[in-house]
Amino acid sequence: MEQNYIKPPVEIRYADELKTLRDNDNGKKPENWLLSPKAVRTFILGGEVDTPEGKVKIPRKFYGNDALVERCIITLAGSRGLMLVGEPGTAKTMLSELLSAACCGVSTNTVQGTAGTTEDMIKYSWNYALLLAKGPCREALVPSPLLVGMEKGIFARFEEITRTPAEIQDSLISVMSDQILNIPELGDEGLVQAKRGFNIIGTANTRDKGVNEMSGALKRRFNFETVEPVSDVSLEKEIIIREAENMAKAGHIDCPVDTDVAELLAVTYHELREGKTSEGTVVEKPAAVMSTAEAVSVYYQTISHAWYYGDGTADLGILTENLLGAVCKENKDDLEKLKAYFRTAVKEKAKKVGGAWKEYSKTASLLR
Ligand SMILES: Nc1ncnc2c1ncn2[C@@H]1O[C@H](COP(=O)(O)OP(=O)(O)OP(=O)(O)O)[C@@H](O)[C@H]1O
Ligand SMILES: [Mg+2]
Repeated sequence: MEQNYIKPPVEIRYADELKTLRDNDNGKKPENWLLSPKAVRTFILGGEVDTPEGKVKIPRKFYGNDALVERCIITLAGSRGLMLVGEPGTAKTMLSELLSAACCGVSTNTVQGTAGTTEDMIKYSWNYALLLAKGPCREALVPSPLLVGMEKGIFARFEEITRTPAEIQDSLISVMSDQILNIPELGDEGLVQAKRGFNIIGTANTRDKGVNEMSGALKRRFNFETVEPVSDVSLEKEIIIREAENMAKAGHIDCPVDTDVAELLAVTYHELREGKTSEGTVVEKPAAVMSTAEAVSVYYQTISHAWYYGDGTADLGILTENLLGAVCKENKDDLEKLKAYFRTAVKEKAKKVGGAWKEYSKTASLLR
């Protein structure tokens, strides 16, 4: 069943791990949480669980700042919301899904913020056929994820909150202050109080539209955590390999993982993001976002190509072409910056390190 879906929710994808953690959890638990903060930590950052049958390994899912993850969990156990901010592709959404699935068993109770998000989508709306037939009643009410979260005592996720106009975002303020949502149309029955366990996880991208687009009043109701890009090349390589492996498995692509190719990509992304090579040469940063998520996608495109058109071996020419598409989609000047990176850094590594870098360097002619 599960593999028929492109991206099963975290609680389904990791159902076995969550069950193991739950069955063997003897840590202190906030009211209405499925797992203790200790077990949530193990689920996200990996570790071992003692079970009657022996130790069970839980793999790490989020790489980078472990203390940030702990702080997020503690925030969620309290009454302030959690706001994950950062550059695109730094796993803010992934982290918010992991947290929701682990603490509440549901990661899909989500509002997607867009320029078109309205107050109804945040609070509640009506099934108009029922509203006309029966008048305002519970049955005719269409609750928003926020209302569902309040009534069930689970998290509501608010994705890309700053893409929503600030005055619409502000409808969260009263809920977050009083933990109450009033539905005046329902009269005496219209007062919904948030059950314990309810909280909000927001994500906001610092690139598209800044966090400054949020009102001060709303900001004060959230604890902010900035998720930074992965700073370690070998970690980034590990993420690329692991994510691409998962995607390949889901897409029934049976290509062996090419760690050399993952390394080339991880180094390229890292150095272009930092504006400096490991040898200390300064390189111009492209305007495009050099995120790990993009690197994963470039790698996956390359192995998909190898699977469907090639002999299953990743072709570095295809890799470079995919890189070109990913880096140069926003700004024409980025092409020159990518070319310059190949002329300097890649060429230097081809001489010094050799191996796959030599072949990679030869693909520079495809950058046009
Ligand atoms: N620190 C990290 N640990 C694990 N995976 C990561 C990390 N950083 C990035 N990734 C990879 O990048 C993917 C993209 O993450 P996600 O979509 O959650 O990013 P985002 O921060 O929400 O981006 P956007 O701002 O564009 O919405 C993840 O699914 C994962 O494969
Ligand atoms: Mg996101």
